[in-house]
Amino acid sequence: TVELNPALLPLDWLLGTWESDEPGEGCFPTIKPFHYTETLNFSHVGQPVINFMFSAFNAETKKPLHRESGFIRMQPGTNRVAFIIAQNSGLVEIEEGELTGQQLNLQSQAVARISFAREPHVQQISRVFQLRPDGKLEQTVSMATDNQPLMQHLHITYRRSS
Ligand code: HEM
Repeated sequence: TVELNPALLPLDWLLGTWESDEPGEGCFPTIKPFHYTETLNFSHVGQPVINFMFSAFNAETKKPLHRESGFIRMQPGTNRVAFIIAQNSGLVEIEEGELTGQQLNLQSQAVARISFAREPHVQQISRVFQLRPDGKLEQTVSMATDNQPLMQHLHITYRRSS
């Protein structure tokens, strides 16, 4: 196994695989509330970069739904974190924010999409990752679309599976 690049030590608590604990909750003013399960994986190969892959499923049918993957970098000597993200819906984004203890607050800095992406288009995303004192990881995602202001879309907690 390769040693974690020291630039990423402040994020070592993310590394590994996480499974949703109980089904996550999805909502938005324009959709029917839903439940989902999700597996997160964060890995590295010694570069100053974390590789990640998130895979979400319908909680009842287990059908694969949303997927995103990308890279995480930290600005050396600061608590500034950047996520470089591609989503299976055709959306790509850069999110940046600050690490405070074991809480990560991110806001989209750039959002782009394929020419034939479904409407409404996402205009803004913000999310929070937090490692709780009980060892569980929590993620909350909010988004703004063409016709809705920034509002919560997802909330889920995970337990470490490896
Ligand atoms: C709906 C974006 C993650 C499940 C939507 C809509 C958007 C969106 C724009 C349509 C809202 C509308 O019609 O007004 C995103 C973004 C995500 C994300 C930007 C990540 C940052 C997820 C995840 C799941 C999920 C992880 C888990 C399964 C759904 C479902 C709907 C939906 C079930 C409603 C049905 C549908 O439109 O397909 N999402 N989503 N989303 N999202 Fe997400």
